[in-house]
Amino acid sequence: MYTFDSPNVTGFHRIDGTLACDGVPLPEIAAAVGTPLYVYSAATIASRYQAVDAAFAAHPHAIHYALKANSTLAIARLLRSLGSNADANSGGEIEVALRAGFTPPQIVFTGVGKTIAELEQAIALGVSTINAESDGELDRIDAIGRARGTRVRVALRVNPDIDARSHQHISTGLKTTKFGIALDEVRSIARKAAAHHGLELVGLHSHVGSQITDLTPLTRAAEALVTLSRELRDDGITIEHLDLGGGLGISYDGTPAPTASDYAAALLPAAKHSGLAIILEPGRSIVGPAAVLVSSVVDVKERPGGMLFVILDAGMTELMRPMLYNAFHRIEPVVASSAPEIVADVVGPLCETSDTLGRDRRFARPRVGDLFAVLDAGAYGAVMASNYNRRTMPPEVMVEGGRHTVIRRRQTIDDLVALEA
Ligand code: LLP
Repeated sequence: MYTFDSPNVTGFHRIDGTLACDGVPLPEIAAAVGTPLYVYSAATIASRYQAVDAAFAAHPHAIHYALKANSTLAIARLLRSLGSNADANSGGEIEVALRAGFTPPQIVFTGVGKTIAELEQAIALGVSTINAESDGELDRIDAIGRARGTRVRVALRVNPDIDARSHQHISTGLKTTKFGIALDEVRSIARKAAAHHGLELVGLHSHVGSQITDLTPLTRAAEALVTLSRELRDDGITIEHLDLGGGLGISYDGTPAPTASDYAAALLPAAKHSGLAIILEPGRSIVGPAAVLVSSVVDVKERPGGMLFVILDAGMTELMRPMLYNAFHRIEPVVASSAPEIVADVVGPLCETSDTLGRDRRFARPRVGDLFAVLDAGAYGAVMASNYNRRTMPPEVMVEGGRHTVIRRRQTIDDLVALEA
């Protein structure tokens, strides 16, 4: 179903023992671009987007890809070309969405701490909906709307007090978190919002967390929104849509994860019951499996007790997830070898013990210069990179139709110091 030349095998697979992306061997790309680098499979992004879109075909829906997962322009453009809309979480993401060719009516603006400047920017542009986080924010949006003589389309972000049962750093649906409007306040706040002349209340929104693999919390959140939408209707407030957020998890360890059809099965019954159109904001499930971080071995260190460290030229500056969320990513040698197996910690070059990409990993003993791939690094990978230790951010390469293109060049030290006096 892809719109460009599809290779026979999409994604990451081995050709004669060597890891390749859509038919292009990773060592070829690493030799041309250097390491560390991110390599993306355009075909994987396309097929994963299309799978979600197809799974929800039976119900009026719009996919607003969550740019926060990965907003490199070429990736945002690819998703736009496939028919996606955008979910932006900051003024910066709105700018990037525009530069990627999304029009303001294709953008929803979410975010727990939108500044007045960001709200003014979004309202002046005419984004499709602002997902409002609080009573106070609604007042600020109303004031801007009235000053401009317009009604700003808003949805209320509901905090349904539902545990996403994901890592606590990325679970957002409990009332002990900073997100959204408490369930029992929504009705009164909605009534107030409906009376504001600068607002048009068009929807309800929730996002209870990310990397959700048991989809029950997503179903419960959708049901909570449906119930609320009926209560609002009883109050004389008719809305257009339910924005069910993102959150669909992926498999990081190779065991089965919920599919796009499972996702639809979890949400569509509630959606149908509501009679309202739905918005989805998937991020990770679209781009997560679509990239690897390719890195070179810079040292293999053996402690007298036998403990082994494989030190890579990528670490927490390139991929923060293992350190921040204790997240597991598979790490594989790019080229299969028949050297004896070892068990080692795979670490980065930064001056922190937390700079560990994986513990107790088993693979053939590598040599300095060998390539490793950290899998499923497409979401919250490159976007969370940093310059700690004055490291320059890695390049990103997209493989499409059997060819690789640098979609973001490697940052240079000149780029870095250019900002400084
Ligand atoms: N919508 C809203 C309002 C969100 O806050 C998020 C993610 C999404 C949609 C997209 O969720 P997804 O489909 O990607 O799960 N850095 C963390 C993940 C943070 C997620 C933040 N919000 C990680 O690396 O796991």
